[in-house]
Amino acid sequence: MPAQSVILPLPSVHARFLVIKTQQLEVARIKAQLQHFLDTRDRLLTQHTHQNIKVAIAFGPELWARLHNKMPPNFSPLQEITGAAFDMPVVPADIFIHIASERADICFILAQAALQGIRNDVKVVDEITSFRYIDNRDLTGFIDGTENPQMADERAEVALLPEESGVFCEGSFIFAQRFVHDLDKWNKLRTTAQEDVFGRTKLDSVELPDDIKPKNAHISRVVIEEDGEELEIVRHSLPYGDASGDMGLFFVAYTNDLNIINRMLARMHGKTEDGLHDRLLHFTKPVNGAYFFAPSQELLEQILE
Ligand code: HEM
Repeated sequence: MPAQSVILPLPSVHARFLVIKTQQLEVARIKAQLQHFLDTRDRLLTQHTHQNIKVAIAFGPELWARLHNKMPPNFSPLQEITGAAFDMPVVPADIFIHIASERADICFILAQAALQGIRNDVKVVDEITSFRYIDNRDLTGFIDGTENPQMADERAEVALLPEESGVFCEGSFIFAQRFVHDLDKWNKLRTTAQEDVFGRTKLDSVELPDDIKPKNAHISRVVIEEDGEELEIVRHSLPYGDASGDMGLFFVAYTNDLNIINRMLARMHGKTEDGLHDRLLHFTKPVNGAYFFAPSQELLEQILE
């Protein structure tokens, strides 16, 4: 029961993310379309063996309930955060498709395969073309992914549901959220002030010492220790943007426990008793957000039959 192919390897150079609301589209058409997408992927894989073509297809809770008679453990919609230091929007969606490759044109062909023939029947919440930016940096200039689990076995332990999950084994939950950066505001900060926002150095991503690192630095808010162990997620976020329009980070995390994400978001947005929030949110804004479930490759194939 292998996991879907994009989850465990490290990110490729290019990615494309699709977030889709299926509206009134019948389940049979949804399945046929996704099967066409997978057939196109297989064709491209045989033609372009060295382009690291990897994908994941995932479903929102509402569509999942129409596709399968059992819900994955604790799978419910992402909740908005309101009345906090920074509110957080939610835009529920039905299908999330993660496409990755060393080539942007291959990502494009796959996105076309996902939407060809249904474009006018669905609502595309986001179609985001992402790229790896200098040294794996976010557009703020900071290296993103330093503390991400790197080795496949660690990534599997963090991202995939374990064997005892039965039919859901090797499946993974996804949190996807698009952030729009205010780079004009950000670039006015001196480097040391930017380092205080993340809690790491800019050049080489070294964690600031505890006595210097602010309590509202990004990493101070998202690092949560439980029984002496840090709660981990597998991040696949990548920058996106138009020089003339929105630019920022398409945040994507894979996890076997959505409660970890709920807790990180509460600490970022200022919903915890300490009353602190993540300083990063003064410079970037989430504009949507949703939870999805990516079944194992085998369960996905069964569902699409
Ligand atoms: C760490 C950027 C949103 C969870 C980091 C780091 C950067 C970064 C630069 C430090 C290097 C690293 O370990 O990767 C951003 C940006 C965001 C964003 C630019 C939004 C625009 C989020 C969100 C979450 C999150 C929404 C969780 C819900 C984490 C975690 C770490 C991290 C778990 C690792 C902390 C550690 O173990 O030291 N992020 N992040 N981030 N971020 Fe974010």
